[in-house]
Amino acid sequence: MSLLGNNVSKFRMILPNVIRGRALSTTPKLLASELVVHRDTEDNNPCIPFQFTEANMKRLVALVQNYPEGSQRSAISGALDLVQRQMGWIPISAMHKVAEILSMPRIRVYEWATFYTMCKRRYRGKYHVKVCKTLPCMLRGSDIILRTVEEATCCTVGGLSPDKMFGVDLVECQGACANAPVIAIDDDYYEDLTVNDVYNIIQTIKCGNIPPAGPQSGRFAAEPACGQCSLLDCPPGPGYCVQQSLFCE
Ligand code: FES
Repeated sequence: MSLLGNNVSKFRMILPNVIRGRALSTTPKLLASELVVHRDTEDNNPCIPFQFTEANMKRLVALVQNYPEGSQRSAISGALDLVQRQMGWIPISAMHKVAEILSMPRIRVYEWATFYTMCKRRYRGKYHVKVCKTLPCMLRGSDIILRTVEEATCCTVGGLSPDKMFGVDLVECQGACANAPVIAIDDDYYEDLTVNDVYNIIQTIKCGNIPPAGPQSGRFAAEPACGQCSLLDCPPGPGYCVQQSLFCE
């Protein structure tokens, strides 16, 4: 008889309850972990025509001219950025148009659009709110900032608000750790955030205005929170600490 003996069946009965009772925690999906596979949908398939506006076409031509003959594909990031500014996101037919204009295989455009998280391959709202959750921001309370963003925009991570005004996503470090916690809304960074700042920022946007970007704490850029504490003296002039003997008589 095994050590467990008759207890095996007892364990089998208990085990599912134990698992059911366990507080399993999962983390929300990152924008970076979005599926890279394209599936045709009603609003995103190759049959939907895409054209650059006249103004954007002029910009694209100017961008391409920055590169030597035969290297026009180097303008791909600028081209996809123009698409995104025109449409708000990058549909598959726009990728095909870019491939055609830049004379490059479509797969190269797909690779670019699926690698960089700033390329939006689906509509992410009129205002795309990206909440940083990497370590420095997390240590400075990005969890509560995320909950506040979700509450203020009525939108959960990866989704859209009911009025399609906001889309919220979690992203990796946005390169402004000295001003953590940070969120980015489209091109603007909002830094040194508190819960109240988040409510104010979202409310201002809902009222049709764009709040001032940058640190919300009042400090300038990433200077110390207690004010400037180094480089307080006037910088010494030329010749500082140079040997006397090296000076011309
Ligand atoms: S960790 Fe958030 S900006 Fe670097």
